[in-house]
Amino acid sequence: MTSVACGIDIGGSGIKGARVDLDTGEFIGDRIRIETPQPSTPDAVAEVCKQLLDGLGISEHVPVGIAFPAPIVHGTIPFIANLDDSWAGVNLNELMLQHLGRPVTALNDADAAGLAEVAFGAAKGVAGTVIVTTLGTGIGSAIIVDGTLVPNTELGHLEIDGYDAEKRASSGQKELQDLSWKKWAKRLQRYYSHVEMLFSPDLFVVGGGVSKKHEKFLPRLDLKTPIVPAQLLNTAGIVGAAYQASREQHD
Ligand code: BGC
Repeated sequence: MTSVACGIDIGGSGIKGARVDLDTGEFIGDRIRIETPQPSTPDAVAEVCKQLLDGLGISEHVPVGIAFPAPIVHGTIPFIANLDDSWAGVNLNELMLQHLGRPVTALNDADAAGLAEVAFGAAKGVAGTVIVTTLGTGIGSAIIVDGTLVPNTELGHLEIDGYDAEKRASSGQKELQDLSWKKWAKRLQRYYSHVEMLFSPDLFVVGGGVSKKHEKFLPRLDLKTPIVPAQLLNTAGIVGAAYQASREQHD
């Protein structure tokens, strides 16, 4: 494992990248953010990734990881919920090889956040089953058992009471539907108690931008499982992608 790698986090509104110190889990230098192109097609997004690598001055010897908001199954995206539909069926590794001229490590954004929380954050040293959820435009999930990730779990798309769970309980829906903290917390309660019933985890970690305001909603939840805010907040996707890249890519 190298001690420096680059992480890129592709999201619905912004694409962010930074160089990461893997001894500390902190950024080296500034993070760069570029608006997600609209439409967010594969070619347009890949070109932004190229701009980010150029802007950060990443050489070919530095491993690059990409966190992406969909499952990544052996490099391929089987379906996409929150970016342009044309991503379905695309092989992210091949696309990036064409545009960046180098191999990358691609993984689901919540999986990246989960790995980062285990390596550097709220789930560090926790034994048993940890479920990291990211609350944003959608709901992402990572299940980590004794430090090992079970990838692509997609618990944001559980069907609960006839709804795709993220269409009820994501923070994007809180904003869209102008829900109060109290109303939204009721939806979170329904969501987390269902996930708790299915998996009996030892710990829930809640990430995503809204976790900065965790005191507004976490205390309203009544669960058997401890539930804590993420520690890396908006750096988790980048840090987790860099971490995974450095584990997989060698000079
Ligand atoms: C996607 C997941 C992703 C999550 C958060 C969901 O809609 O299906 O793959 O992790 O949003 O971005």
